[in-house]
Amino acid sequence: MNYIIFAVIAYLIGSIPFGLIVGKLGFKIDIRQHGSGNLGGTNSFRVLGFKAGLLVTVSDILKGTLAVILPQVFTDDVNAIIIGIFAVIGHMYPVFAKFKGGKAVATSGGVILGVNPLLFLVILATFFLSLFLTKYVSLASMITGVVAVVVTIIFQETGLLIATSLLTIFVFYRHRANIKRIINKTEPKITWM
Ligand code: G3P
Repeated sequence: MNYIIFAVIAYLIGSIPFGLIVGKLGFKIDIRQHGSGNLGGTNSFRVLGFKAGLLVTVSDILKGTLAVILPQVFTDDVNAIIIGIFAVIGHMYPVFAKFKGGKAVATSGGVILGVNPLLFLVILATFFLSLFLTKYVSLASMITGVVAVVVTIIFQETGLLIATSLLTIFVFYRHRANIKRIINKTEPKITWM
């Protein structure tokens, strides 16, 4: 029963569409109709600018963190990282935004932050190193997912391995259009790094 309760709460938290909220309240635009059309941090940076992009990214990360902290505080009999998967599903398919959400990256990071801060630091460093080397946010996100799975094998914790594997599959699935653009050399590169 606890699994169901915390999974539903996590899904609802994950469904909060910060990119949409910040875009609509601050700029009167739906960022899903601009840039890549994604409701995530990267497209918020692209469409709304640095401050709004940072706000959306941090908020999207904290959604995942909150979703896994709640079960850790209130119960002993659920594996928090499994609950975190539902926050990421909410982020990708938000009930509050017609099920058109983000690409799983920031909220997955937040889930990992909430269950294993050391692993979070490793994936954060991996992300920025990959971004520095490739200049593609999307490619850096996918590389980070793969590294997260490999590093998780070292932790030898089944729940963490299942979750990072699943989250990485989500990340790749949600980046299908980016993968095509990378192959066609039409994916935008960042210019600030
Ligand atoms: O976090 C999403 C990022 O990897 C790609 O976003 O907007 O460039 O498709 P976008």
